[in-house]
Amino acid sequence: MSEIAEASHTCVLVTGGCGFIGSHTVVCLLQRGYEVVIVDDLSNANEKVLDRIDQIVGEDAAERLTFVRADVANKQALTAVFDEFDIKAVIHFAGFKAVGESVEKPIEYYSNNIGNTLALVDVMRNHDCKSIIFSSSATVYGDPDELPLTEESPKKPATNPYGWTKWMIEEMLRSLTIADPEWNVVLLRYFNPIGAHPSGLMGEDPKGIPNNLLPYVAQVAVGRRDCVHVFGNDYDTPDGTGVRDYIHVMDLAEGHAAALDWMAGRSGCEVFNLGTGNGTSVLEIIKAFSEACGKDLPYVVEPRRAGDVTANWADCTKARLELGWEAKYGIAEMCRDSWNWQSHNPNGYEE
Ligand code: UFG
Repeated sequence: MSEIAEASHTCVLVTGGCGFIGSHTVVCLLQRGYEVVIVDDLSNANEKVLDRIDQIVGEDAAERLTFVRADVANKQALTAVFDEFDIKAVIHFAGFKAVGESVEKPIEYYSNNIGNTLALVDVMRNHDCKSIIFSSSATVYGDPDELPLTEESPKKPATNPYGWTKWMIEEMLRSLTIADPEWNVVLLRYFNPIGAHPSGLMGEDPKGIPNNLLPYVAQVAVGRRDCVHVFGNDYDTPDGTGVRDYIHVMDLAEGHAAALDWMAGRSGCEVFNLGTGNGTSVLEIIKAFSEACGKDLPYVVEPRRAGDVTANWADCTKARLELGWEAKYGIAEMCRDSWNWQSHNPNGYEE
């Protein structure tokens, strides 16, 4: 059985805790009284986020945060962390996440994402820590036959190595719970996380040209890029552009905290969708962001992007009933917070 009890004095390891979703989740955990150890190699994150976390949560809570710079695949480093801290549960975010890059570098993607998860669960088992929340994705549903997507919707073949790593890690973790009933696994399938901390101190800071819509739109708004490229306007959707279930990163972060509470005393493997239940098109996003930043953002229509699905959105009933969690923010607030972050930090965490 899992030993997660009261938040106070409960230590949680957050891999990839300096990244976009990880950092917002760390804030929620610290504010709820958890002790947090971040393991992050900073390969796709900036150490400056740690100061921002401290600023948001304040001195007392910041004292409960420890940062260890290490690759999660480094078993020696992980073992040292588990030896030093009494870790009761792990939230595992660390992984490569660029869909296009995964097609170019399949070996790196499979070896990093799957390799680090195997190293992690091995070290966890050696320390009798068997509670893990995994950062999965709606990508495992592939091109859906029916909407909204429930947790019962079939997993479909992935269209890229990144998607396969999420798909396979879900199955790997599920296997652990079959082999050893003490394992307590929660698979959280995120839809499209956007937005930023309402303080404007933390947000998404992609390296290079953003692959995802929102950071690209935000960079157009701040003048770093000329115009938004809309990938296809001939989809079978109301305005012809792709439809997604965008979710505020703070709602997503709260979803992790709710899952952690829910896991206490349980075992087995459970899946939850984390979305809002609403679909929004690319053109609707551009319009909402234009309103948030107070200027019309230019865009051009380009051909469809390979591997994109027409539309997806979540049925989040299960998370509401079981976890007592529900997304609170709408698109206008997501764009407002994303703009607040981008306009105050035009170059992300870099000066
Ligand atoms: N889009 C554009 N222009 C851009 C970027 C995206 O028009 O510059 C469109 C896409 O075609 C799509 C929508 O905006 O219709 C959203 O695209 P994103 O790249 O922001 O997000 P995806 O839905 O493609 O991908 C997200 C996550 C992946 C995850 C996937 C699974 O980024 O990690 O959801 O649902 F695998």
